[in-house]
Amino acid sequence: MTNPAPEAAVPAAAMHITASKVGKIYPAHDGEVVALREVSFGIRAGEFLSMLGPSGCGKSTFLLLVAGLEAPTSGEIAIDGQRVTEPVTDVGIVFQEHGLYDWRTILGNIMLQGEIRRLPLGPLEVRARELLRRTGLEEFAAKYPHELSGGMRQRAAICRALVHDPSLLLFDEPFGALDALTRVQMQIDLEKLWLQRRQTVLFITHSIAEAVALSDRVAIMSPRPGQIDEVLTIDLPRPRDKAVVASKRFAEYCDAITERFMARGIIQY
Ligand SMILES: Nc1ncnc2c1ncn2[C@@H]1O[C@H](COP(=O)(O)OP(=O)(O)OP(=O)(O)O)[C@@H](O)[C@H]1O
Ligand SMILES: [Mg+2]
Repeated sequence: MTNPAPEAAVPAAAMHITASKVGKIYPAHDGEVVALREVSFGIRAGEFLSMLGPSGCGKSTFLLLVAGLEAPTSGEIAIDGQRVTEPVTDVGIVFQEHGLYDWRTILGNIMLQGEIRRLPLGPLEVRARELLRRTGLEEFAAKYPHELSGGMRQRAAICRALVHDPSLLLFDEPFGALDALTRVQMQIDLEKLWLQRRQTVLFITHSIAEAVALSDRVAIMSPRPGQIDEVLTIDLPRPRDKAVVASKRFAEYCDAITERFMARGIIQY
């Protein structure tokens, strides 16, 4: 993904998300689990918002609600003012595990997005190949997922999420399984791709530095039942290059978030 072609930055028709008093209770064999309680906040059109919070606080649940893949128990999620009641289609999702099908080639996996949506496959393949080129996977289109490294598979999963040019991107810890070096490169590459289109992004991560590096705002969640404790604006220039990441202000944002988690006993020294 080192040399993306210069391309006119054309903003996607971004959507805004509103969560109003969203609650989610899962039935369990020994009672019930309150995953989210009265979560109210918004994701602005075209913003990159990260969600940070301890394991089990309901981040993935929130993402599934936004995608319309789960229904809230109370409250509602709306996209551009429309209540979400069924799976959202104008969306690209990357889960923690790449979720590529072993029996399909890399290109075949990416094209699945269009096959499911019954999109014209010719133009879609042109775009798929362009994304593969920009993510350094051009020569791997005909390979199968097991023939790629973890980082390459994750890049292919990102291509699959982007190929139909959705207005909304939902990422659930997409880089969690990667080594630290690949992870940093993926952050740099993702920011480049996002700066081209400025889709609305909900990005879940456990990494404070990753959230600061990528986000316009960071939503900090409390332990389960998850609530939004605070939404912090990350006022740093883009692209978040080496100078930005090495800056005092970057470190201050990371410190401020760490202190929020220390205050809640989530991080203890
Ligand atoms: N399908 C399900 N059925 C029952 N309980 C569930 C289900 N999915 C999640 N939960 C429970 O809801 C709570 C929140 O889970 P969720 O996966 O949303 O957390 P998370 O913040 O994404 O955690 P992690 O950071 O570990 O991925 C957990 O207690 C989990 O056990
Ligand atoms: Mg999760």
